[in-house]
Order: sequence, then structure tokens, then C-alpha cells
Amino acid sequence: MNRESAESKDWTGNQRTVYTTLGASNHTDKERQQHDYYATEPRAMELLLAEEQFAPVIWECACGEGHLSKVLEAHGFEVTSTDLIYRGFGDPEPLDFLKDTLEDFEGDIITNPPYKYALEFIQRALESVQTGRKVAMFLKLTFLEGKKRKEFFLYNPSKTIYMNSSCLNCAMNGDFEKYTSSAVAYAWFVWEKGFRGNPVIKWIN
Ligand SMILES: C[S@@+](CC[C@H](N)C(=O)[O-])C[C@H]1O[C@@H](n2cnc3c(N)ncnc32)[C@H](O)[C@@H]1O
Repeated sequence: MNRESAESKDWTGNQRTVYTTLGASNHTDKERQQHDYYATEPRAMELLLAEEQFAPVIWECACGEGHLSKVLEAHGFEVTSTDLIYRGFGDPEPLDFLKDTLEDFEGDIITNPPYKYALEFIQRALESVQTGRKVAMFLKLTFLEGKKRKEFFLYNPSKTIYMNSSCLNCAMNGDFEKYTSSAVAYAWFVWEKGFRGNPVIKWIN
């Protein structure tokens, strides 16, 4: 898949200053890994795939070490895995999702984004898929909070939010032996580009 620079595109338009202030944080600043690398427990991907249909081609645009991509591949999806930092998995060429894109991409986007840029990632992802295609983001449930995010959701409603009733884990630097559990409530937020209406909430575990 070819890449093209989006530097010249006004992907956030006049709303850029709003979006750049709105990232969600799942971790304290003290603990925060420099590029927000918190690997997702692969079971989170399995749980979503059991409920939601996706296009055969997926872009994991912040793939880390491939904890989500590997599950997708095992389920037969054609996955393009990119990241700002090459961590030994996916495309060795760094791709800044907030600046660059894949040429002629026609699939769905699935990731657990860097939390401090979560809203920008969602906005960018919705711009990167075609109408009717999906964007799935693994986010802290509290991403729903806040007046400005409310404004975003009113204009860009998720179609389905999949809540995890028992905690799934994200491990700093992919170290699941050190970070064995988490008290954070995560959910999969799924957008279908062009959807208008109110999101449905489902529980997936
Ligand atoms: C929370 S981790 C999740 C990793 C992987 N998606 C997973 O679920 O295991 C976020 C990832 O976003 C990457 N990242 C941060 N800023 C980025 C950017 N501007 N473009 C692409 N990737 C970025 C980090 O390097 C990190 O690997």
C-alpha cells in the first residue's frame, strides 16, 4: 500500500485547536511512556471480533508490537500495521498517523490509539475511511466525559460501544508480566462513517 503525505491537507480544519486539547489519559503523567505505548491484551480484540463484522482489509495505524494485528491476522484479515515507532512488528518505515496516510485505503481502521491524541486519532481515522466503513478504537470508558467530547460525539456518534464488565489490561511497553492487571474500565468504540443516530451499548464480557 502506498503512502501519501497529508501535511497539506487540513484534516482537522478549524477544529484543530479543539481536538488537540481533548486527548484522553488512562495513566498518570509520571508513569506515561513517552509515545504512549501501552499494549492491549489480545483478548480484547477477540471479544470485539466475536460481535462486530469488519472489512477484509484493516489498517492498525498505531500497531505497537502487534498485539491487535496478530489476532486480526489469525482471523484471516489482511492487516496493514504501521506505527510512529517501529517496535519490531509491522511496517519498519515509521508512519505518523496524524500526518501521513495510505494511498487508496478502502478498509476499516482498528487500533488502541495513543491516549493523549485519542480524539485526533478518531477524527483522522474517520477522514481516512470511506462512507460505510468502520473505525474501532479501544478507549477508556471515561472518554465519554467532558463537554467538548460531548460536542464531538454529537456530530460523530459511535454506532456501538462495547463495554467490558471485567477489566482488560493494557501493559506499558508491552510488559504484561510486570503489569498484570488494571482497574481501568475500557470499551471498544465503533464508528461507521456516515452513521447518524444514538449509539447502542453492549457488554462483551
Ligand atoms: C496505546 S499504544 C497501543 C499499541 C497497539 N495498538 C496495541 O493495542 O497493542 C499506542 C501506540 O501509538 C503509537 N503512536 C503514538 N503516536 C503516534 C502517531 N502520531 N502515529 C502513529 N502511531 C503513534 C505509539 O508508538 C504506540 O505504539
